[in-house]
Amino acid sequence: MSNVKFFSGDSVPLEMHKVRIVQKLNLVPIERRLEAITEAGNNTFLLKNRDVFMDMLTDSGVNAMSDKQLAAMMEADDSYAGSETFTKLENKIADIFGKRFFLPAHQGRACENILSQAFVKPGSIVPMNYHFTTSKAHVVLNGGMVEEIIIDEGLKVNSEYPFKGNMDIEKLKALIEKHGTEKIAFVRLEAGTNLIGGQPFSLENMREVRKVCSDFGIMVVLDASLLADNLYFIKTREEASRDMSVREITRAMADLSDIIYFSARKLGCARGGGICTNSEEIYLKVRELVTLYEGFLTYGGMSIREIEAIAVGLEETMDENMINQGPQFIAYMVDELQKKGIPVITPPGGLGCHINAMEFLDHIPQSQYPAGALAAALYIAGGVRGMERGTLSEQRDEQGNEVFSNMELLRLAMPRRVFTLSQVKYAVDRIAWLYENRRLVGGLTFVEEPKMLRFFFGRLAATSDWQQKLVAKFREDFGDSL
Ligand code: F0G
Repeated sequence: MSNVKFFSGDSVPLEMHKVRIVQKLNLVPIERRLEAITEAGNNTFLLKNRDVFMDMLTDSGVNAMSDKQLAAMMEADDSYAGSETFTKLENKIADIFGKRFFLPAHQGRACENILSQAFVKPGSIVPMNYHFTTSKAHVVLNGGMVEEIIIDEGLKVNSEYPFKGNMDIEKLKALIEKHGTEKIAFVRLEAGTNLIGGQPFSLENMREVRKVCSDFGIMVVLDASLLADNLYFIKTREEASRDMSVREITRAMADLSDIIYFSARKLGCARGGGICTNSEEIYLKVRELVTLYEGFLTYGGMSIREIEAIAVGLEETMDENMINQGPQFIAYMVDELQKKGIPVITPPGGLGCHINAMEFLDHIPQSQYPAGALAAALYIAGGVRGMERGTLSEQRDEQGNEVFSNMELLRLAMPRRVFTLSQVKYAVDRIAWLYENRRLVGGLTFVEEPKMLRFFFGRLAATSDWQQKLVAKFREDFGDSL
């Protein structure tokens, strides 16, 4: 897995860092876990950290920072305007992405708000390899429509295809020809495609997208939030890019983009975000919106300390030994689960390990939210907090009917450099136990269902006493163990 071979022949991801600051974790007894998930309305977003052992909800804003990032935060130059710290980040963006203009924003969705306000009009179409929740919402809020043109392989749960995040070039051409260039606001490519399991696109695919967009005079916008994982996969899976350094691949991707934006909660292991471009016209169009919604151009809603951390974090992202940690831990977890016959998304992607709840709990109908039920069950079984990515995360249609999701996934995010291998093994063990006892798991039903963003705020109840039965079986199998 890493460049280090084990004498034993085992394939083990090896951490290329040492841990120098730690945070104490609690693993509360299963009886308390049942109470906690009940108090949280069976919604893992509503759990309190004090009840959570492994927080695999997201990798957003919770990646481990380096000693160099923390040191840089101490020397941040705080001022409303003209901060030296901002200049440092601006220079780092120019150095890494080769873009002259950098506009800061407080996080990724703020960039999406600004770009959508600037370029999306009623009737606009934004082709994407795949949508992300916030990226779609901002396009729709501005009267536009998203068209997903991921390759067919991208939606297959199990595949050997290394670049499931690729855009379908023929569909892209057909879409542009059908609607006409004027209707296309821009083409958005998402690195490390989040909602289909952190799947990458290839550099070759990006070159093809660029070519089509150049032929038609359309902008390419790169969502680089999950760039680190995508870079790692290009480096390790794409034959033609094997001899390029991570820095060279990054620059090649940047050169193919008119605009790059990112959530620094993911890219650069800090918090914040930003937009960069070489076009003065774009810069001037977007500048006012940044000042209106985010803050002055030299901080854009971010704390100056975070800006220091991003500058260092971006540089660290150019190191293969740094960006390989997430994908290698995820690959380990996916392989271990697969060996036990547990249905997971393959090939392993970035961001996290994704369990296929539709198959894991094939006795639960989509109307009872199998992925949500699995999230609640795994929390009860092991204090592991994942995120539902299925029907619960959808919204009802205008008539109030459920919109059943293509996939019912439980996402177990792997914040970078946060967990140890024994913690990952523990999660695998508890998932395996749950799989053995999957017939005990039942469905969920809403008791409080908000119209918007129900997955964040909604409260649900178990459809029977299955959760009590799960606790009883745990005690039978594990005695008084936590
Ligand atoms: N783009 C991608 C690909 C993302 O994964 C996210 C966030 C955003 C944009 C928005 O960035 O959160 O800084 O506003 N993903 C988080 C997640 C929320 O948990 O997957 P943000």
